[in-house]
Order: sequence, then C-alpha cells, then structure tokens
Amino acid sequence: MTRTLTIRRPDDWHLHLRDGAMMQGVLPETARHFGRAIVMPNLVPPVVNAADVTAYRDRILAALPQGADFTPLMTLYLTEQTDPADIAAAHESGLVTAVKLYPAGATTNSASGVRAFDKVRGVLEVMAEIGMPLCVHGEVTDTEVDIFDREAVFIDRVLDPLRRATPGLRVVMEHITTADGVAYVADHHKDLGATITTHHLIINRNHILVGGIRPHYYCLPVAKREKHRIALVEAATSGDRRFFLGTDSAPHADAAKESACGCAGIFSATNTLSCLAEVFEAADKLDSLERFASLNGAAFYGLEPNADTITLTRGDPVHYPEKIDTGAGPVTVFDPGFPLHWHVS
Ligand code: DOR
Ligand code: ZN
Repeated sequence: MTRTLTIRRPDDWHLHLRDGAMMQGVLPETARHFGRAIVMPNLVPPVVNAADVTAYRDRILAALPQGADFTPLMTLYLTEQTDPADIAAAHESGLVTAVKLYPAGATTNSASGVRAFDKVRGVLEVMAEIGMPLCVHGEVTDTEVDIFDREAVFIDRVLDPLRRATPGLRVVMEHITTADGVAYVADHHKDLGATITTHHLIINRNHILVGGIRPHYYCLPVAKREKHRIALVEAATSGDRRFFLGTDSAPHADAAKESACGCAGIFSATNTLSCLAEVFEAADKLDSLERFASLNGAAFYGLEPNADTITLTRGDPVHYPEKIDTGAGPVTVFDPGFPLHWHVS
C-alpha cells in the first residue's frame, strides 16, 4: 500500500478569498499547501475593472503570511457593462487570468452578473480572439427550474448555444456537480475544461438533509444524488486533462451559515488535500491525484506546473481544526465525515 506520495505543488483553480478580516484569516489556509489559485471576483462591490483587480491583488499580497510562496491569479467579474477593450488590456498586461460569468442571481453576490447573454457577446468574442478563458457558474436562475436541475438545464439552454455562437472561446465549467456536466465535457474536446470541488467528490444531497439540516454542507451548485457524485469521482480520478481541482472553498462566518436563511459556501481550504488523497486512494487512483490537483489545470491555463513539490504521507488520522478563527468570526472547516490519514508536508 502506498504510504508516501510526492507530487508537484497543487493549485486551486477556483477559490474565494473574500477581503479584509475574513481574507486575513483564510488566506494562510490556502497558501500553506497551494502554489497558485484562481481568485473569484464576487466581492461586494464586485471586482469589475483593472483598477479593482490591481487593488484587490495588492491586498491579497499584503495579507500573505511572511515567507509564503503563493501567487493569486486574478479574475474579472463579467457584467453587462464590461468593456471588451478593458478585458483585452487586462489580459495583455498579464494582470488578469480569466473572466468570471455569474448568471445574475445564481449565487452569493451575483446580482451584478449577466441577465441577457446577448449583452456580453462582444466581450466573449474578444476573449475568444485573445484566448482568455471564461469561468462559468453553470446554473440557470429561472424560478420554475428545480434547483437540482439547474446545472443540466444551463448546459442545454445557455452553455452549449453560447459556445456554438463563439467558436474558439475557452470555457471552464466551474464546480460541476452532475453526470450531465461530466458527459458534456467528455463529449466536447475543444476549448473546454471543468473544475470539480473537493466536497462534491465526498457529499451527496443526503448529507445536507438527512437527520437534520446541515448548513455547512450547503453550497451552490447544491450537491446532487449519489450517482452524480460517483460520476464526478470517476472524472476526477480518470486523469483526463480536462478535469481539474477547483475547491470553491467559500468561507462564511458560522453565524451567516447557521441561520434561518444560511449562506451558500463550504470552506475546505484547510483539509482539502488530505480529503482528496482519501478519495483517490478509495478509488485506487492515487497515481492520478497529481494530474487532477497539480498538472491539468496549469496545462489548461497554459502555465507550467509549480516547480516544487509536496509530500503526502499516510499515517494515524490527522487532526485539522474544526473551525478557523478569523477577525470576521469563526469559519467551520469542511467535515468529510471520515478520518483523514494523509499528512501534507
Ligand atoms: O456555494 C457557493 N458559495 N457557491 C458559489 O457559487 C459562491 C460561493 C460564495 O461566494 O460564497
Ligand atoms: Zn465559487
């Protein structure tokens, strides 16, 4: 049985760092193990232009613990007012790695997102020309569509037409949660990748609802049936280069989660790599972990893998804290529901 595994340092291709006291509290959790992360722009107000990105990036760098070797890869929040020329300039300067598309109303701080996709056509065409990736929150927001169907409906009604209308546009389907998402990526070889979160590899919808409502398992897209979780594990552990890790670690203070109307988001930065090693080990695919966590995402984004490595060592269960204390309140760490044996160094 494998006892140690050394892999290139992983990257997180979808991360929420927030701002201010919350960021100060959660950033060290990611910087401890990860080399780079795609940082989501859904602050309040959102990160919509080069000046916002520059200032946010500076705040992240200033909040890093001393000696940390971590590079934030920045994103711009796509609105119906986004100017294609600004996007091209931000890409050209290297300031921005990707653009994020939130359908308006789909999730936390998405009110400034896109309502009419025709209004962003010009931006998408420029992005296709310059090769800038679009990260997509893939859920429709129509009230009549059941929340468990919103991803599958988005693929048919929005994503596929949008990709056909914009040939060459490089798209990352963020945090896929369904067998439909896996199948769509698997069938479309060109210009398409998908991130998968740690928690969607581990929980299904029963974890949220059986035996009481568990707010710390609530996120968007919401976890689906077990058959979908199994499809995600197969995709993540397959080694297929189009699937890569995006934790979607999304901290909310406990008071905001444990509420009559709790926020969506699961905070997994602290123990993600130990969780993933358990998932890959259970699937007898530990040798694919490096591709999922460290190689495939970098290749999609046209970047070299990190030069240094981390080592995972199997031993007695690792004890991660149950909560992280931040200046914005305690944040509960994702509980996978099983012991974690893989230590990260
Ligand atoms: O669960 C989620 N939380 N899903 C998202 O898409 C956004 C995120 C957040 O920002 O809290
Ligand atoms: Zn997210």
